[in-house]
Amino acid sequence: MTSDTLASYPGINPHRIPRHVAIIMDGNGRWAKQQGHMRIFGHKHGVNAVRNTLEFAAEVGIEFVTLYAFSTENWNRPEREINALMQLLVDTIEKELPNLMKNNIRLKTIGNIHQLPSRCVRQLKETEAATAGNTRTTLILALSYSGRWDIIEAVKKIALNAQNGEIDIENINEDTLNRALNTAEYPNPDLLIRTSGEMRISNFLLWEIAYSEIHFTSVLWPDFRKEHFLEAVLDYQSRERRFGKTSDQLAEDGKGVNPI
Ligand code: IPE
Ligand code: IPE
Ligand code: MG
Repeated sequence: MTSDTLASYPGINPHRIPRHVAIIMDGNGRWAKQQGHMRIFGHKHGVNAVRNTLEFAAEVGIEFVTLYAFSTENWNRPEREINALMQLLVDTIEKELPNLMKNNIRLKTIGNIHQLPSRCVRQLKETEAATAGNTRTTLILALSYSGRWDIIEAVKKIALNAQNGEIDIENINEDTLNRALNTAEYPNPDLLIRTSGEMRISNFLLWEIAYSEIHFTSVLWPDFRKEHFLEAVLDYQSRERRFGKTSDQLAEDGKGVNPI
């Protein structure tokens, strides 16, 4: 199935598919406003973009997709928008279960999940359990998430371990922090995409994107489709990932391997 489906995307290099793509899905409000609608109309149409994105990821064999769906800072939005987003979240994951199963996609989450309404937590847990055996692509939804929040939580865990004598402060290294983060089970993103033309990180995966390739597109999230994802992957494939080394060294070592 993979090679057939990959073959339908011209120009894509099957040997350099990013393992992990993280996406800042931005521009729903502006998309709605352009059409004279309320912001939530844009969020609802954003679901089509999510479905398209996941289908593409499964088709080309991207193992992990992290979607920034709700940030720590998004709690500062008007209550009405927050409530509508939470309802949309519950409805969508319930409705999309057959598509997750069909595309062999496993659902996971990162973030301060317990800050979400209990019906959201319940629906997420149910869907995680139902999709736990799926192996094609892992969808990681970042909910009530921010990079700084995760780093602080990780630091607290490590400090507690140090206090209890379970870890020697001298032995704290990158791996200690990697293992304490919400993202511990996943490789670092190879590619980060942000839609809507904004060129900032907005507190997403701060630690994990240290060496990610970044692709910005002016497309607003509800309009994002497979062709735009393909464009981002082709852009990624055109980059030389040097990880601090020189081009000449890469020629000797073999290219494109993310060592971190
Ligand atoms: C992204 O779209 C979705 C969330 C942050 C939940 P926005 O709602 O930020 O849309 P804009 O950026 O205001 O257009
Ligand atoms: C980032 O988008 C958060 C998500 C996509 C969930 P925002 O729209 O909240 O970011 P800023 O406020 O423009 O930086
Ligand atoms: Mg925005």
